[in-house]
Amino acid sequence: MTEAVVDLRGASIQQGDLTIIPKADLRIAAGEFVYLIGKTGAGKSSLLKTLYAALPLQRGQGTVAGHDLRKLNRRRIPKLRRQLGIVFQDFNLLMDRSVGDNLRFALRATGWKKGKEAEQRITEVLTAVGLADRVRSMPHTLSGGEKQRIAFARALLNHPSLLIADEVTGNLDPETSREILMLMRQLGQEHGSAVLFATHDYRLIDTFQARVVKCEAGKLFNV
Ligand SMILES: Nc1ncnc2c1ncn2[C@@H]1O[C@H](COP(=O)(O)OP(=O)(O)OP(=O)(O)O)[C@@H](O)[C@H]1O
Ligand SMILES: [Mg+2]
Repeated sequence: MTEAVVDLRGASIQQGDLTIIPKADLRIAAGEFVYLIGKTGAGKSSLLKTLYAALPLQRGQGTVAGHDLRKLNRRRIPKLRRQLGIVFQDFNLLMDRSVGDNLRFALRATGWKKGKEAEQRITEVLTAVGLADRVRSMPHTLSGGEKQRIAFARALLNHPSLLIADEVTGNLDPETSREILMLMRQLGQEHGSAVLFATHDYRLIDTFQARVVKCEAGKLFNV
């Protein structure tokens, strides 16, 4: 049996005192692709935030990439985050510097030294998303889909065991959304990363067959 990348058991997903999902159970195997759906306000982002420790796990059990969510502290949270690739709707690129410098900044923030290895890794991740020729481009010269690809490249830098995508296609047209979704699955397969892809756009889950987990009325279940 492969070890689970995510293992929540009776985990309470909450925003402060407000409980969104009282008992969430979720297991994601290494390399598995999972759609997370549910209408707006159902708690998808709150669940994801609990996984990357932006919200504390106050009740129940949970591990992510081998880290016990109940035993996180200031030292352990960066270690957990380094094993995750997190991508959002609004790209979060630094607009005042080039694509390459965005990636260099992310590498340095996660403990890499300047040099050959770092440059090689940048070339690898840009090649993976098909944008190796844009390393010197400024973000404002990229389309929305291209910016999202750069955000994926950045998410891959540290060989994450889990890619977390929170509404990453929210700003994109339907065709680009599907391309981005296919790319995400391909990157997960090539890099051995599990993917948790959250969206309130139910049509997207027809893009390809994968497990669908739904968040509704304070519950989390397989569809
Ligand atoms: N920072 C916050 N403080 C307090 N409550 C919050 C906060 N963020 C979200 N909530 C509440 O938590 C609940 C779940 O919100 P969440 O953002 O997790 O939903 P979602 O499924 O991601 O929705 P969407 O599809 O719109 O992104 C909502 O009732 C929301 O009002
Ligand atoms: Mg959300």
